Amino acid sequence: MEMREQWRSRWGFVLAAAGSAVGLGNLWGFAYKASQGGGAVFLLLYVLIVLLVCLPVLVSEMVLGRSTGKSPLLAPIAAAGSAWQPMGWVFVFASCGILAFYAVLMGWTADTFFHSLFFGLPGTLDEANEFVGSVSTGSSVFLGQLFSLFLTASVVVAGIRGGIERLARWSMPLLFALVIILAIWAATLPGAIAGYQEFLFKVDFSQFSNLKTIRLAFGQAFFSLSLGIGIMVAYASYLDKRSPLPKEAVLISSLDTSVGILAGMVTFPILMSFPVAKDALGESFVKTLFVALPTGLSSLGLLGQLVAVLFFGLAFIAALTSSISLLEVPVSSLIDRFGWTRDKAVIFSSVFIFLIGIPAALSDKVLGNMASFLDLLLLLGGFLIAILIGWFASRVFDEDLAGCNSSFRGRRYLKFMLRWVSPPVIAFGLIVSLIDLL
Ligand code: TRP
Repeated sequence: MEMREQWRSRWGFVLAAAGSAVGLGNLWGFAYKASQGGGAVFLLLYVLIVLLVCLPVLVSEMVLGRSTGKSPLLAPIAAAGSAWQPMGWVFVFASCGILAFYAVLMGWTADTFFHSLFFGLPGTLDEANEFVGSVSTGSSVFLGQLFSLFLTASVVVAGIRGGIERLARWSMPLLFALVIILAIWAATLPGAIAGYQEFLFKVDFSQFSNLKTIRLAFGQAFFSLSLGIGIMVAYASYLDKRSPLPKEAVLISSLDTSVGILAGMVTFPILMSFPVAKDALGESFVKTLFVALPTGLSSLGLLGQLVAVLFFGLAFIAALTSSISLLEVPVSSLIDRFGWTRDKAVIFSSVFIFLIGIPAALSDKVLGNMASFLDLLLLLGGFLIAILIGWFASRVFDEDLAGCNSSFRGRRYLKFMLRWVSPPVIAFGLIVSLIDLL
């Protein structure tokens, strides 16, 4: 038997996992969802869900991957028997579905980047509409989608160390530095305070009973942490036995949340500083940032163009470190299950994902629906993982964590949450989301 590949270092794994977590969901989804009325209540719910529900599930996904050393398709069977087979398939198809629409969004990001770099920013409302048109309709969408999938595939084909870890090592530190610099710069804008108020401090307690706010907070927590469909199973299956998983889970989720908040501290001040940006905020739920930001920034001339190029460049790199994690799920599963070579698995998966992404590329309404539906699958996946590891394979959990010296109290706390808190809370989130969507 061939030896399973391993991360070169502990940091390689942490950066790759953080790279998976930090993506368009942080740079764009977080701000967008907070602005849908939830405001500070959305943020508070998000943090609570991460702490109470997501952290234990995150550790469980890692344990599932590391203790079995299997791909997301086969790990559930290895841990708890063949009755869990369907769960593996849900993981594989959900990852393909998410990457299908994610690649379209990445394509828009790439188009916006190139457009800002070569043609400049739209200064008026008319130009803004033209800008959206050239970015998100027609052949440029397919070009962007293909370009994004192609880059994703080229990284994944190079394997864990040579592809995924290598990319994460240089891009993640760069990304953190950039988002911090941009947030500091945005703090000097005239609308900075108004922006923070709009984003972080808009308190409206009635939002606690708003189903949409609750659904968005659950969806965002799972989506942003890449949770519920086996990404962390895949990544942790290449991990050595000594890495302290609970610590790493805390690190990964703190990095992820910080980038989400920092990104909002970049976008909201820009939106509040330049009136033309607010005018450009359209109806369409996805296009908002892609138009409003460049349009607002155009007021600053060359400096604005530089900021736009940096922001969308940053967003694209962040998206790439996420998309590779999504592709790794079907790829590692095909290799594991059918003994395919990595090349073959990558080509097959990418073509399949391109095809199922076509409807999303043609209509942003389809894209939005796809995203909402897949958020439900993430919750369902998270629920199943909590049940699997908390109840059916809890020995695996104890043994694996005892092996990496995590404290007994920490383990007991995690397991308690996993058994008694995560499943009912996720079930609640699922039911609320279903009701709200229907
Ligand atoms: N977390 C990434 C983001 O915030 C996207 C992502 C990567 C993802 N892998 C995932 C979302 C798995 C859900 C499940 O953009």
